[in-house]
Amino acid sequence: MTKKRILTGLQPSGALHIGNYFGALKPLVDLTKEEGNETFLMVADYHALTSLKDASALRENIYNIVRAYLAVGADNKDVVLFRQSDNPDHMELGWIFNCLVTVPFLMQAHSYKDKVAKGLEANAGLFTYPMLMAADIALYDTDLVPVGEDQRQHIEYAREAVTKFNLAFGETLKEPKEMIRESVGIVPGTDGQKMSKSYKNTIPLFGTPEELEKSVMGIVTDSSGDVPQNVYAIHLVVAGGIGKSRGEIDQVYEENKGKYKILKDALHEDLKTLLNPFTEKYHSITDEEIKNILAEGVEKAKVVSNETMRKVKEATGINI
Ligand code: ADP
Ligand code: TRP
Repeated sequence: MTKKRILTGLQPSGALHIGNYFGALKPLVDLTKEEGNETFLMVADYHALTSLKDASALRENIYNIVRAYLAVGADNKDVVLFRQSDNPDHMELGWIFNCLVTVPFLMQAHSYKDKVAKGLEANAGLFTYPMLMAADIALYDTDLVPVGEDQRQHIEYAREAVTKFNLAFGETLKEPKEMIRESVGIVPGTDGQKMSKSYKNTIPLFGTPEELEKSVMGIVTDSSGDVPQNVYAIHLVVAGGIGKSRGEIDQVYEENKGKYKILKDALHEDLKTLLNPFTEKYHSITDEEIKNILAEGVEKAKVVSNETMRKVKEATGINI
């Protein structure tokens, strides 16, 4: 089997919930453990700047996203963990891609279009966002880009940028493929809708014991049936994370028909089994350790990206 280069980017965008864990963090961490692949995990802090204008929040989010991945099992021995802004090659190649694609093409990108459709003002950084992302990918001869469905179009844009480059300057960059996460399903929130920070219906991934309890007790139940559907749906997902079968969970619900408080307590216990080790690890990782991991990571990243930029500069004539 030939070794595949895998790369993905993470936006440092704030407090994480168990939907993020089951939908994004866990599948990615599992992938980093697979033999034979070489994985790059990049913190897309320049991308975050398109929406976040708060220095202390951004700084904290950067540390916390790295901390989160390490806490749920990513190991910097298996993956190259680095920060986009630590490597200027991203900005440089992003600029070159900007010079290759057209304005109408960028106007079709969802990231831009959706913002405008909501009547919001889009900054130029958001407009060219897909070309910075294309650079993130193309710099590392990436074969596969694991992302959620929402990022599919961005990978198509990256492929288009690479194709345009190769057509204009000769075959230089590798065309990437998306690797859309298999449907882990959508984790429901405490109100039964998709769990999302924008709906305020989350169960925190690294919350305090009080926050965790409050979120569980706040799960919306209706009094029409024996089984509180929202509690049950969340419980099934959590059970999968701690190796409990559907049968075991069904038995608990069968034995406690209509006893909502007991069922919520049972979910709370299973959540603690899942989350306590993560939370403990999360709080044990210092900012200093994260800085060291990122510093080491970017050196490894640059070995690959500097070589790509050498070829890019040669091909474009930006070297004399
Ligand atoms: P939010 O909806 O809370 O703003 P994000 O959009 O920042 O979450 O999500 C980051 C990633 O986490 C998404 O790309 C998606 O794959 C995953 N994710 C978020 N919410 C869920 C959910 N409820 N179920 C499954 N995966 C989710
Ligand atoms: N745009 C991605 C998101 O919002 C983050 C991202 C930036 C990314 N650069 C990337 C993802 C490169 C994959 C590859 O989730």
